[in-house]
Amino acid sequence: MSILITGGAGYIGSQTNFCMLDAGIDTIVLDNLSKGYSFLLPKESNGRNSSLFIEGDLSDIEKLRQIFIDHREIQGVIHFAGSIEVGESVTNPAKYYQNNTVNTLNLLNVMNEFNVKNIVFSSTAATYGLPNSVPIHESDFTNPINPYGQSKLTVEHILSDYAQAYGMNSVCLRYFNACGADVQGRTGECHDPETHLIPIVIETLRGQRDIMKVYGNNYNTPDGTCVRDYVHTMDLASAHILAINKLINYQLKGYNAINLGTARGYSCLEIIKMVEKVTGKQVNYEIAPRRAGDPDVLVADNTLAKNILGWELQYSSLENIITTAWNWANR
Ligand code: UFG
Repeated sequence: MSILITGGAGYIGSQTNFCMLDAGIDTIVLDNLSKGYSFLLPKESNGRNSSLFIEGDLSDIEKLRQIFIDHREIQGVIHFAGSIEVGESVTNPAKYYQNNTVNTLNLLNVMNEFNVKNIVFSSTAATYGLPNSVPIHESDFTNPINPYGQSKLTVEHILSDYAQAYGMNSVCLRYFNACGADVQGRTGECHDPETHLIPIVIETLRGQRDIMKVYGNNYNTPDGTCVRDYVHTMDLASAHILAINKLINYQLKGYNAINLGTARGYSCLEIIKMVEKVTGKQVNYEIAPRRAGDPDVLVADNTLAKNILGWELQYSSLENIITTAWNWANR
């Protein structure tokens, strides 16, 4: 048995790939290396399991077919590949509907052709848009406020229809704020450009930026800065492994959407304080105007992940998130 991981050279994909090998599962990584890096792939076999790398793009349907012809052992797909910058999705929606929606459709159709019916899909809390209440439950209204969230939600709708029509089984994992790095230092965050809070705080401390901006301090939160649910990529990885195993073992069927968050929120200023505590250095920041499209609070209800997947958080204490991210940045 083998699992195809698209986008397996990216941030969460590479972490999941390492964790799958650790768990004794063989993998095949498909990545076009547009945002992923070959240095985030395993350098050598762990002696028991193998990870094969194939460079390629999901728009190349013939290449996709060839992968399923050559690798009859593929029993399921974990699909990370896609574009993730919310701001860019507003100015260039074509890229998001192509990379996230159309390319996923290519993948699903080829999977169907080869009778591979199990997929774990990287979805996002951005599918909810501005929530009416927190914590956010999967049954809450989905109303994305940007093409990024819309491109992912459209895939969820397709997966729901494909479950009915073709017996495609899926788990759509709606990530809240992914962060942290591998505890063994094998992989971590390398976005270009970097837009996420924790790596930007760390870049500021490392002198890669003179000063960082905190976008708004007049939100309806205890200290006025936005509150987010920060979840470590190793915990995200474990949820993917639980999900693909449940699909392959017929313990989960049809279309499923599941939040991945800790159910605990931290404000931007709390993040900065924790980075200062972990590193013993002071962060140079200023309060700036609000960034468009930022909801006050995004925190997950994670009951479904716990009950359906048996998910247990192991790595997502804020201190561990910051420590692993700091170690990765200083590698
Ligand atoms: N922030 C700053 N300064 C910065 C960068 C971020 O103050 O330099 C603030 C943001 O305004 C926000 C918080 O830090 O309040 C977190 O911002 P991030 O950009 O790190 O993350 P987001 O919550 O905006 O986005 C994340 C994912 C998206 C996903 C979204 C779902 O990165 O992919 O959650 O809600 F769509």
